[in-house]
Amino acid sequence: MLILAIETSCDETCAAVLQDGRMVLSNIISSQIGLHRKTGGVIPEVAAREHLKNIIPVVDKALAEAKVTMNDIEVIAVTEKPGLIGCLLVGLNTAQALAWVYGKKLIMVNHIYGHVFANWLVEKKEKSLPSTTIGGKKKNIKLDMDDFEFPIVVLSVSGGHNDIILMKNYQNIEIIGKTLDDAAGEAFDKVARMIGLDYPGGPSIQKVAGKGNKYAFDFPKSMSKSKDFNFSFSGLKTSVLYKIKDLTAHSSQLTAQLQADLAASFQETVCDILITKLLKAAEKYRAKEIHLTGGVSANLRLRKFLLERTKNKNFKIRYPHNITFCTDNAAMIGAAGKFYDHFEGSSDF
Ligand code: KG4
Ligand code: ZN
Repeated sequence: MLILAIETSCDETCAAVLQDGRMVLSNIISSQIGLHRKTGGVIPEVAAREHLKNIIPVVDKALAEAKVTMNDIEVIAVTEKPGLIGCLLVGLNTAQALAWVYGKKLIMVNHIYGHVFANWLVEKKEKSLPSTTIGGKKKNIKLDMDDFEFPIVVLSVSGGHNDIILMKNYQNIEIIGKTLDDAAGEAFDKVARMIGLDYPGGPSIQKVAGKGNKYAFDFPKSMSKSKDFNFSFSGLKTSVLYKIKDLTAHSSQLTAQLQADLAASFQETVCDILITKLLKAAEKYRAKEIHLTGGVSANLRLRKFLLERTKNKNFKIRYPHNITFCTDNAAMIGAAGKFYDHFEGSSDF
């Protein structure tokens, strides 16, 4: 089955063609990062207007790269919510118009579900299949759906959401923990701005943190002792702000070394908070697999932190092998669309 997928919920105009819910034939992403860097964040109306300019060329390119036409497509999957309403409407209207003109089935996909299915994606152009890690050892994945063993506990973290999700099977998917205030990605973006680093903050902090001392500052790990699986990042953000005020009390600017130490200590604290809760959930629900997904799952320290903490355990660890599957993309929306008809009950996050 060939699926055309469209995603425009935030600042990336995306279209992809997928075969049988896993094989990515094309995955086109037109990023607006350059535009939003000037304002230090996304202005919804500016983003929506950019989507309008880009959506048709992006869909055309996705079809061309997959070497298919609209006649070959069976299903159109599109992000319905959550997201910036003006941005979502561009994708939704395009998908609806294409479905109506070409007589195709239209599936509306929740963006958070999309991120969950990023770990199902495999690229056609790859010579060998990507691997997964069990107890610190690499294992090749299988292409069939039996490759996945339930229950799976997923940490899905981006700029807009921060969830722990329990998948008992393809039909039973539930959010068991979420942030009570900011998402970790948003904290990365805001702290980067405070330190004087570029938008988006995640990649900037990761880069600078490489030159810093992760033990330089002891930031609070809010809610890490609570029994639930919820998160809070606003206290950590405030704590970094006060630390910067202290450090710059007698000088107007942070030195490059202080920037790096702040970035490394902040990144380490976020990784610790996220992975500690994720592992608690995995133990409680006797998960067979643990997945990372969402923009923040691109973070190399977060991945390493999880591998270190599960070195002597039997969990199958997966995170998107291609960084473009971590941040917003349409391929993941297509993968979720494949299973969408079967979701029940709690599917409406
Ligand atoms: O999933 P995504 O593209 O969009 C949302 O749905 O929000 O995630 C974007 C977020 C941004 O906050 C960005 O700073 C963060 O993901 N991010 C990272 C990294 N790459 C992107 N955070 C930490 N480390 C990274 N390497
Ligand atoms: Zn997202």
